Amino acid sequence: QVYPNQEVASIGVAKRIANVIREKQEKGETAVLGLATGATPVKVYKELVRLHKEENLSFRNVVTFNLDEYYPMLPTADQSYVTFMNKHLFDMIDIPKENINIPDGTVPVEKVQEYCEGYEQKISNLGGLDIQILGIGRTGHIGFNEPGSAPNSGTRLVTLDDLTRRDASRDFGGKENVPTKALTMGVGTIFKAKEIILMAWNEKKAEIVKKAVEGEISSDIPATYLQLSDRAEFILDQDAASAL
Ligand code: GLP
Repeated sequence: QVYPNQEVASIGVAKRIANVIREKQEKGETAVLGLATGATPVKVYKELVRLHKEENLSFRNVVTFNLDEYYPMLPTADQSYVTFMNKHLFDMIDIPKENINIPDGTVPVEKVQEYCEGYEQKISNLGGLDIQILGIGRTGHIGFNEPGSAPNSGTRLVTLDDLTRRDASRDFGGKENVPTKALTMGVGTIFKAKEIILMAWNEKKAEIVKKAVEGEISSDIPATYLQLSDRAEFILDQDAASAL
């Protein structure tokens, strides 16, 4: 779906998330949300905060799982995805702290595998993700599933692509300060979500969006795997859709 601009598109995505939350609330159930970081979802979070403050949307029955985190990374660091999520969403809504899950960038390396299996397990114990939102990196990554990621990959420790580190360099004051690794949900983890919404804005995403939507399905561009799912949608602004 192509929208005139990211504001309108983001409001639409926030409404979809709010509907999932309200439907679950009516049934006395928990809504399980898969969340993303980066510039792309910021306006979705802004709208969710507005719905909380002005339209009584409660997050008390919501459990969230973030896609990824740099590794190693202290949760209190400015660049951590914990800091990002607190700033853009969690500090402004009524979600219970214990319902928030973000991959822990402080897990000792020898415990990473066990930790990742636990993350995966926790999602399935809650019945899976009701909705997963995604951005797309210029390498075609979803979460931090860089080129080479397998379609059935699970939550794991990965090495970041050079282009991804370059794109993150502004947040870290230089590429050399960007961690070389990250923890990420796998492509397989994302695929199990009941709804998958990939968002992309601006012209700088047009080329990778074209490859993801129209290109051959390949591990070279992990976002192409989404072509295989009938539950995945791309929500674009006109600029991101301009090469289609
Ligand atoms: C990061 C995140 C991804 C995100 C991507 C795009 O690498 N780990 O989840 O989709 O960047 O970022 P942006 O939304 O800032 O363009």
